[in-house]
Amino acid sequence: MKDLDDMDNLKRCVRETLRLYPGVPLLIPQVAARDLRVGSWDVNRGAIIFTSPFLSHRDRNVHPDPDMYDSSRSLETGAPLPDGTSTFFPFSVGPRSCAGQFYSELFVQGAVAIALQDHEFEAKGPVPPPAMVAFCQPMAPAYARIRAAPSVGKKQQPQVSTPTVSSNSPVADLECKVEAPHLENVDVITILFASTHGTSRAFADRLARSLQESDVAALEPAPFIRVCDAARYQPPELARESLVIFLVSTFGHNQPPYSGAALKAFVNDPGTKLPGLTYTVFALGNSVYPSFCSFGKLFDKRLAEVGARRLMPITLCDEIEDQEGAFVAFLDRVTEVLYSSLEGIPSSPASVLPSSSGAPRTARPSGKTSVNKHKSDVTRTVKSEQPLGPRFRLVELGRGRVGRQRGDSDVSEGSPKGTRDNPLEFQVLSNKCLRPDTTLGQVRNVALRMPSDGSISYQPGDIFVVYPVNRLDLVVSLATRLGIQDLDLEFELRPLAPEKVQLQSPFPERMTYWLALTSYLAIQRVPQPHLLQILRQYTDDSEEAARLAMLAKGGPKYTEWALGSHSLLETLYQVPSCKPSVGHLFECLPHLQPRMYSLSSSPLYLPGEAHLTVAEVIYQSHEHAWRRGVCSTFLGTERMIPSSAADDRQKLLGFVMPNPGFLLPEDVRTPIIMIGMGSGIAPFRAFWQERLVRAEESKSGGQLGDALMYVGFQSSVNSCYLDELQDAKAGGALSKLRVVLSREGERKYVTHALAEDQWSLWHNHLSKGAVVYICGTIDAANDVRSTMLDVLKEAGGMAEDEAAAWLESARDSGRYKEEVFGESTQSYSKTRMEARLRKARAKLRTAFALLGAKGIQRILETAPPDL
Ligand SMILES: Cc1cc2nc3c(=O)[nH]c(=O)nc-3n(C[C@H](O)[C@H](O)[C@H](O)COP(=O)(O)OP(=O)(O)OC[C@H]3O[C@@H](n4cnc5c(N)ncnc54)[C@H](O)[C@@H]3O)c2cc1C
Ligand SMILES: Cc1cc2nc3c(=O)[nH]c(=O)nc-3n(C[C@H](O)[C@H](O)[C@H](O)COP(=O)(O)O)c2cc1C
Repeated sequence: MKDLDDMDNLKRCVRETLRLYPGVPLLIPQVAARDLRVGSWDVNRGAIIFTSPFLSHRDRNVHPDPDMYDSSRSLETGAPLPDGTSTFFPFSVGPRSCAGQFYSELFVQGAVAIALQDHEFEAKGPVPPPAMVAFCQPMAPAYARIRAAPSVGKKQQPQVSTPTVSSNSPVADLECKVEAPHLENVDVITILFASTHGTSRAFADRLARSLQESDVAALEPAPFIRVCDAARYQPPELARESLVIFLVSTFGHNQPPYSGAALKAFVNDPGTKLPGLTYTVFALGNSVYPSFCSFGKLFDKRLAEVGARRLMPITLCDEIEDQEGAFVAFLDRVTEVLYSSLEGIPSSPASVLPSSSGAPRTARPSGKTSVNKHKSDVTRTVKSEQPLGPRFRLVELGRGRVGRQRGDSDVSEGSPKGTRDNPLEFQVLSNKCLRPDTTLGQVRNVALRMPSDGSISYQPGDIFVVYPVNRLDLVVSLATRLGIQDLDLEFELRPLAPEKVQLQSPFPERMTYWLALTSYLAIQRVPQPHLLQILRQYTDDSEEAARLAMLAKGGPKYTEWALGSHSLLETLYQVPSCKPSVGHLFECLPHLQPRMYSLSSSPLYLPGEAHLTVAEVIYQSHEHAWRRGVCSTFLGTERMIPSSAADDRQKLLGFVMPNPGFLLPEDVRTPIIMIGMGSGIAPFRAFWQERLVRAEESKSGGQLGDALMYVGFQSSVNSCYLDELQDAKAGGALSKLRVVLSREGERKYVTHALAEDQWSLWHNHLSKGAVVYICGTIDAANDVRSTMLDVLKEAGGMAEDEAAAWLESARDSGRYKEEVFGESTQSYSKTRMEARLRKARAKLRTAFALLGAKGIQRILETAPPDL
């Protein structure tokens, strides 16, 4: 800093640049308070006057040869001339000039000084003319091509970079040092994703394709790019990998998607060492959850601990903050860093900036990076990500042997029965409506028959995973819209050309249109931006194409549109001229993901059966259309309801997923506190059934710890299992039962009941090692957590930070367990609205900072009345 004072020449260069390219070329308008004369102009009272640094700085009467860059000029920022005028004012002048001007100048000087220390720069083309835009807008960027090369004989400093994050992401806990590595002998780049809903999967595919189209794939020798699903990846293979890009989402505190469980276990194993691995993590999450991207962060940290090197810092991507923008920026950045590292060119992680929109971005326009292929040359040009062309050709094979049900066609050889790769058909024994069909949707108890050979077992707390089927009327309408004549025709997707990239084949080998549309493709999901970009390629009408292109950019316009929850079919109705290629569409549509349901029965209490409690998801979109969830609706359709006890035609495809994080304590004497909201009661039914059996056993000498049950519903009509709860209490399975009905009588929630019981909760249970189980939507879990903090503070006498630390440690040691079903339909809209408001507020703040309150007031005063 001190040295900067002595760098007079540098200061002059920066100021001369600001003269030619002032950041804001047209400053805030002023209203003439009286009639006046400016130079040779008469200005009437009330007229609006703009001052333009851009034009003033090129006034040849003041700045001789104004278009010449001449750093010998003596320019004083904001210094008025003796007559009160000023001719150099990149930051405006007077008492309301930019408060950050000194800092900005110093910052630029510092950055240039550092860059000049160990790099040499060379212009690679003319400097484009500057483009001026509207008042108070920053000058439109003009990109000059510059070659930067490390100065000969100067040693490179290790480059330290900060994580790339969305603006609202908690990153204080992230420590990360990146020494942009030089990679040698990289034959394979593995893109490994762990995904539950398919977002990471889609991003992984796009990343692979984009890398293949970038100059990374043109390197000599070109690395082979492959995409792997963590569900099918053997983690010990990591020891043989040299470069892996991980895309992982978070499902619960520090938890990966279920497909990532083995990865997590492997890196946590004390014996794991990965000194040969270079990696980066793209972490997906949702900042509505308190532990935002916690698995991604943990995974990234752990990989570093076991000796792997970061290629670049972790990128956090928030589902409710321009997920698409964050991904595109990551795609850009990783391409650039990969190329640099593989070619041995030092890259500059410091150029990663958090964008105002929240999405991380690079210090240049987003888009696909095309990297110059000359060694030691980091010149880059940028073009937008190219629309993705088809990779496969759809070949129709005629009607054949593939059936109409999912299940037979995608069995992975060797996979054990009843797993994700090899799901089983479970017979539906009964399917009862527990809550009638109100605007809240039905709640059903679905009873399944467990295989009689005992090959599949479960415990209370485990999860049942269901493969849903899309609405059949929607399938038929979509097929018609796509021009598919015969839904039973078999087809194959054959690669168009041999690739240097190994993509996941979208389907098992043979497929019919029917099977693809009913059971494999997420046709009800709102199309993601890149899918809209693909649809645009098939749209003739220019207005429709422009609209698709605008939405495909992601950002606020897309978010707004997506709140309408349009399915693919509805989207296609909005663009009638769009005639997409079926093969291309099938290749790019996200896959229908299986859904999880907490097992709602105890095999000790109901041998041979597995029960689910399913609450139908039903909500109104922002455009007031009613929408229903895919799987919860499917489970309530006629074909899932047996007409009699003898009816054995209803079959459900699924598997049991162990859920070690939510099991009952091994020692039945350990006290437990169960807190369930709405359908969050589901796993607790299994708990109380199990305890009814244990209570019976304890009559002959055993001991059963206390079990407190707090359960909340809107009203008795909208509740379920109330009788069973009373029976459980009477049978000794529950020592305390509190049912809170929020819309009956006094408006009260479960959290009120917890607050009322705080003294006994702390002194009789929590302080004595009780295990707390919470189940419901994310907002319910968040509310309970903040009430628990109050209980710890008020009844446990803890300070704020002590209470937080207590809860954190209880969570880590498995004494505070949350089973979160996702967002509630209410919170879904609320959080997205909040995200939009947050952004709007940030923009307003910037505008206010630029204009000042008086400036805005003046504009409003002088604006036409209809503005
Ligand atoms: C571990 C675990 C256990 C679970 N256990 C149970 C259980 O026991 N019982 C149970 O009923 N559920 C349970 N769930 C939830 C269940 O897995 C499904 O998520 C749920 O049934 C909805 O699936 P769906 O296919 O019907 O809805 P989807 O078709 O997946 O629709 C839900 C989607 O609709 C959209 N959406 C919802 N509301 C709005 C809105 N207001 N505005 C815009 N879009 C909106 C969102 O994109 C949301 O993701 C559990 C989830 C997990 C993770
Ligand atoms: C049941 C559930 C639990 C979740 N838990 C978290 C969480 O604890 N932290 C977080 O950041 N995101 C959480 N999320 C959000 C997901 O990580 C996010 O939706 C992500 O985009 C999913 O990516 P995927 O489709 O690749 O799995 C959760 C989502 C669901 C449905």
